[in-house]
Amino acid sequence: MNLILMGPPGAGKGTQAVLLVKQLQIPHISTGDMFRQAMQQGTELGLKAKGYMETGQLVPDEVTIGIVKERLKQTDCQKGFLLDGFPRTVVQAEALKGLLGELNKNLDAVLNIEVDRPNLIRRMAGRLVCRQCAATYHVEYNAPKQEGVCDVCGGEVYQRADDTGATVEKRLAVYDAQTAPLIGFYQKEGLLINILGNQKVEAVLQDILQSLGI
Ligand code: AP5
Ligand code: MG
Ligand code: ZN
Repeated sequence: MNLILMGPPGAGKGTQAVLLVKQLQIPHISTGDMFRQAMQQGTELGLKAKGYMETGQLVPDEVTIGIVKERLKQTDCQKGFLLDGFPRTVVQAEALKGLLGELNKNLDAVLNIEVDRPNLIRRMAGRLVCRQCAATYHVEYNAPKQEGVCDVCGGEVYQRADDTGATVEKRLAVYDAQTAPLIGFYQKEGLLINILGNQKVEAVLQDILQSLGI
């Protein structure tokens, strides 16, 4: 299956993606994770992305489209893929359409996870992420068994630099201005499926699987 997971910052895209790819056996392609990894490794891509990410702005379209293009051409995407956090602008959505056409692929569905603002802010404020494997936790809703240590790989968990105060506000504003219009875009394409995100992680997953007929 070729899928997109959409939704505002903190909606639970990454959380659901990890569970979905395990079940569907397809690669998880998160542009945010790719940028964070590049920043950690100090690569040219990381340096390009850093300033934008830390201030809650979008990395320029040409940079982001370039990395997704390379990733989708890799052989493991032949069995399908799950895009998380891409596309995020109409320009990216149009570019993806062109690229999938070139690769002879079609999208099966665009899953849009809906969560209200107060909950989004609570989820981001309490989020912890593993430095090594990008597993996601929450201080209140899903804390690691041992404080500061990843359950999956033993790595160190940390708070993302963009999960604080003003940057969270900025990311939500950027979402409203640049990403929310994609809901209409994919509705017109007949691909949009809205998912109620204000539920427990397991219930959200069940709704997604059911909507995909799995
Ligand atoms: P990215 O990393 O994609 O961040 P985002 O879209 O802001 O989304 P998040 O990762 O913050 O949230 P999520 O929906 O994955 O939620 P999660 O599962 O972690 O992008 C970061 C930055 O990179 C951007 O600002 C931009 O600069 C750049 N970038 C990335 N892609 C780009 C693109 N295409 N174009 C340009 N720039 C790009 O969950 C959140 C928290 O809630 C966690 O603590 C989790 O444990 C908890 N939680 C999850 N589900 C539930 C639930 N059901 N109940 C209770 N708690 C829950
Ligand atoms: Mg994420
Ligand atoms: Zn880990």
